[in-house]
Amino acid sequence: MNILFNLFPLLCLNRRYSLVTDTNVAKLYGNMIEHSLKKEGYDVSLIVFPAGEIHKTRRTKEFIEDVMLQLKMGRDTTVIALGGGVVSDLAGFVAATYCRGIPLINIPTTLMGMVDAAIGGKTGVNTTLGKNKIGAFYPASHILIEEKFLETLPEEEMKNGYAEVIKYALIASSVLFEQLEKGDQTHVVNTCVGLKEDIVKRDLLERGERRILNFGHTFAHAYEQVLDYRVSHGMAVAAGLLFESHLSRSLGTLSDTDFARIVSLLQGWQFPYIDCEALIEAMTTDKKTRGHETRFVILNGIGQVVPFDNEYCTAVDEKYVRDAYDYLFYQTI
Ligand SMILES: NC(=O)c1ccc[n+]([C@@H]2O[C@H](COP(=O)([O-])OP(=O)(O)OC[C@H]3O[C@@H](n4cnc5c(N)ncnc54)[C@H](O)[C@@H]3O)[C@@H](O)[C@H]2O)c1
Repeated sequence: MNILFNLFPLLCLNRRYSLVTDTNVAKLYGNMIEHSLKKEGYDVSLIVFPAGEIHKTRRTKEFIEDVMLQLKMGRDTTVIALGGGVVSDLAGFVAATYCRGIPLINIPTTLMGMVDAAIGGKTGVNTTLGKNKIGAFYPASHILIEEKFLETLPEEEMKNGYAEVIKYALIASSVLFEQLEKGDQTHVVNTCVGLKEDIVKRDLLERGERRILNFGHTFAHAYEQVLDYRVSHGMAVAAGLLFESHLSRSLGTLSDTDFARIVSLLQGWQFPYIDCEALIEAMTTDKKTRGHETRFVILNGIGQVVPFDNEYCTAVDEKYVRDAYDYLFYQTI
């Protein structure tokens, strides 16, 4: 596999490697990569945790750290995160804090990981009181993207990653949106990586413009929290794109025609029901909240976001929030 060809030049024989992955990816690729590295003389230890969003917790982080401590890994260690967004968020957070910070290499194996999670340096874990609430900005020193990994990715997981691809189109590229409308997915990984890298380069710490990457996510993170992380992030994002597009239409910055195009691109999802009050309450814990006001990223047509004095998000009248909820769960226009 090309990934090894690209990985070897980044490694050094007198260092140690903590290859972190989940149970599914370990079976498909982790064991093989560990074996190949060992064969070449590298000091690598495979650390595996159970797959799934419900395991993106402080407890799993502690488990990974304890294994590394027992192996007496020190500052000479590099973390290699091999997997989807759950792995890169968790392993990245371990790298950010272990021995006060050790190098990190990301090898994303899901579409979600390739187009989004592995890029931009956000790492972290969920808590029952909020998604990604504990974490750090800690960019990987290298990101190796090998689309061949997608050959084993279940269709459902491809669909999850596709939700983020649609997000990029909505916030930053009407051209990409038109391409997706034609069913053309050529070069989408490269296009999305380029879009994200550009935004992150200008605003790593999310002081302003980077917030646009959060379109759909005020809803998505609250939705995941209310459902105890038993819904995939991709599904939550798909629902969030519809919800926050509806808000944009209510505010008059997105036309009915463009809203219909978005609905059409996102059709086919079935979203588990949640209570409106629980959603509104959970959204107040969003990281963009100012004072007690929940704020949302708002579209300015397809391919652009309303800048709102470089805040890139705004508070929205609760009536519009309830309308968007009714639309999503009762399909009322
Ligand atoms: N840090 C960021 O900027 C950022 C951005 C987007 C998403 N995220 C986070 O990413 C997570 C979602 O990522 P995800 O959708 O990749 O989920 P995931 O990591 O849980 O992967 C989804 C499933 O696919 C399996 N899998 C992974 N690669 C595979 C492969 N090649 N073949 C077969 N199965 C494979 C995994 O074991 C898992 O069961 C969420 O926690 C989200 O918050 C973070």
